[in-house]
Amino acid sequence: MANVTVIGSQWGDEGKGKIVDWLAAKADIIVRFQGGHNAGHTLVVGNTTYKLHLLPSGVVRGKLSIIGNGVVVDPWALLSEIETLRGQGLEISPETLMLSETAPMILPVNSALDKALEEARGKGKIGTTGRGIGPAYEDQVGRRALRLCDLAHPETLKAKIEKLAFYYNALYKGLGAQPFDVDELAEKLLSVAETLAPYIGPAWRVLDKARAEGKTIVFEGAQGVMLDVYHGTYPFVTSSSTVAASAAIGSGIGPDQLGFVLGITKAYTTRVGSGPMPTELNDNVGDTLTERGHEFGTTTGRKRRCGWFDAVQVRQAVTVAGVKGMALMKLDVMDTLKEVKICTGYTHGGKTYDYLPAAADLQEKLEPVYETMPGWQTSLRGVRKLEDLPENALKYIRRLEELTGVKAVIISTSPEREDTIRVTDIFQAA
Ligand code: GDP
Ligand code: IMO
Ligand code: MG
Repeated sequence: MANVTVIGSQWGDEGKGKIVDWLAAKADIIVRFQGGHNAGHTLVVGNTTYKLHLLPSGVVRGKLSIIGNGVVVDPWALLSEIETLRGQGLEISPETLMLSETAPMILPVNSALDKALEEARGKGKIGTTGRGIGPAYEDQVGRRALRLCDLAHPETLKAKIEKLAFYYNALYKGLGAQPFDVDELAEKLLSVAETLAPYIGPAWRVLDKARAEGKTIVFEGAQGVMLDVYHGTYPFVTSSSTVAASAAIGSGIGPDQLGFVLGITKAYTTRVGSGPMPTELNDNVGDTLTERGHEFGTTTGRKRRCGWFDAVQVRQAVTVAGVKGMALMKLDVMDTLKEVKICTGYTHGGKTYDYLPAAADLQEKLEPVYETMPGWQTSLRGVRKLEDLPENALKYIRRLEELTGVKAVIISTSPEREDTIRVTDIFQAA
């Protein structure tokens, strides 16, 4: 069986958690490779709902779950999430969870700075999750980050924190804030070091052994291509790369091991936080999508902005991220609509665009060009067979496939794990 790399092809919250969990039934290892606890992945299994932020969705099925080197890890958020999930009856131990020793940590200074910068941006804020994601990635590329492996060396930990303090204190001085207390942070870190130690190790070696033994790996992306730091709606993006290639870098495996690249794609569009979204709807249809889709953030509880499917945006995401097939999610949310629209291009100032131009100012001004189709006005909720989908829903799916250039290999009709139509066995299709 081939591996599968799961990524979001819009602005996040497409339903990656549900599909990773569904695929995990057949996989041996699940790996998170970028992002941090800014993610919120929801899994519904019978009467139980699990909300995962940092932990790979494989923990719910007790599969070996790896947090790769590309993930920024807040140790306290991690421990609290482990406790919450244990409270829901899951067993999480070093047998089933491994943390890459080279993953950078998110420290309290990072989250404090994230929030302070957002406040200073005022109206121009990005709408970050305030989790310290951006500052932690800055520390990594700035070569001053503390990594999980540093917890095993208390004798040198303080010197590393001092290096970090040198940078942050210069920044704080400019902002008129209190300098950062090195001893306090060292103590805080040492107080969790022992608990975390058994989980930390060379994840790349475990993955290489799994590869040699022919094990099946699912790589679990966070966020979506439009939030990618290079390919997204910059600067209204997250601070990591969310495309499939990132799975190789963020876990320490060759790009030839990524297998089938599955783009999780909502049947309409949502976005949380600021930034351009050409098909956003501020009308009854937008409200219907928000209400029927329960479009409120898993991590921050913020209302998600909703709009029509943007085929130009998804086609671009498919191209830059290397998507081979899509999992089409939440089609049931559109059940009551009389007609459905698909964005097939943009216009501005007498020009038409068949791609999303790069400049944020221009992206804000784009007017979508729509194609309209009749709705299906039948409940799709819980449909588990392709042949049970009504004609108009099938026509909508076929049109999305034509416009985006990829087939819907999976179709999802409710939050529940098993309400999922397998059109193609992607483990065999890489
Ligand atoms: P992720 O961040 O990509 O994992 O997505 P989230 O979990 O943040 O948001 C997706 C939401 O949609 C969750 O509440 C899921 O339970 C729910 N969901 C997933 N698939 C479907 C579906 O096919 N239909 C409906 N109605 N809800 C779904
Ligand atoms: P999942 O994995 C949706 C958004 C934030 C903000 C921007 C930058 O659940 O799909 P950050 O805190 O990362 O610096 O915020 O990115 N964002 C998400 N939006 N789903 C997510 O994750 C997101 N993670 C970050 O709202 O606009
Ligand atoms: Mg989410």
